[in-house]
Amino acid sequence: MTPADPNRRPDKSVQSYFRKIHLDYQESVGRETIAGVHERIRREIEPRLQGLVLDIGSGGVPDHETNASRTVISLDNVFEFLKNAKGKNVLNIVGDIRALPLKGNTMDRIIIQFVIHHLTASILEKNLRNVRNAVAESARVLKKGGQVFIVDSMVPLSLEYLQRTNYIVSYHLLKALNKPMVFFFSAKKFCRILEDHGLVPARVLNINWGTMNEASQALFPWLRFPLRYTPVRCMLISAVKA
Ligand SMILES: C[S@@+](CC[C@H](N)C(=O)[O-])C[C@H]1O[C@@H](n2cnc3c(N)ncnc32)[C@H](O)[C@@H]1O
Repeated sequence: MTPADPNRRPDKSVQSYFRKIHLDYQESVGRETIAGVHERIRREIEPRLQGLVLDIGSGGVPDHETNASRTVISLDNVFEFLKNAKGKNVLNIVGDIRALPLKGNTMDRIIIQFVIHHLTASILEKNLRNVRNAVAESARVLKKGGQVFIVDSMVPLSLEYLQRTNYIVSYHLLKALNKPMVFFFSAKKFCRILEDHGLVPARVLNINWGTMNEASQALFPWLRFPLRYTPVRCMLISAVKA
């Protein structure tokens, strides 16, 4: 596929949405309840960082401890996020997760944090293709033996199926509300996509939401409900390139 392929065109609604909310988003990451979740994720990932680290869909907010790693490449398809990036020792690159502007077999570690559920489209098949392209691209740029850390909100298998069957309705409902579509995978299905691309899941970990009650930062920032009482879990999946 070439970059001109319509399947690789960025989803304008997701991109323009993040362009609009980028300042609010970056500010929200500093709020105690959200910062606590980020901190717990960092505690798990940081000891495993080494060599060249790529943070895809970084939102310009990565502040990984870089002593152990040579550099962090922070990549996002929304320039505004990177313009405001605060991290030291970080190289900012504008790019799309589905067609990474990077050479193959070059990265030691990849982080994809709260990005997968935004790779949506007007129909489910395109959404799944976006996710497969994203995973294939991560596998391509990762060195053999390198590790990818996927952090995302994930749901039980039954809820994933429910979203699949209601995809079109949800898409149009959110569109009418001027909100971008989201789609949450189950850890089980997502591990299978990783395996299909030569990434072997090594660890699946549930990260405690703690007191986080911003039910959806991107969709309804005013909606408050403790996430630990919902079926949505914050999962960290670590996988190794075979
Ligand atoms: C919810 S934010 C997560 C930001 C950060 N990783 C974090 O954990 O706070 C989702 C990020 O993914 C980026 N993103 C969405 N679709 C993308 C794509 N196709 N390619 C690259 N980045 C994308 C958005 O611009 C946004 O910065």
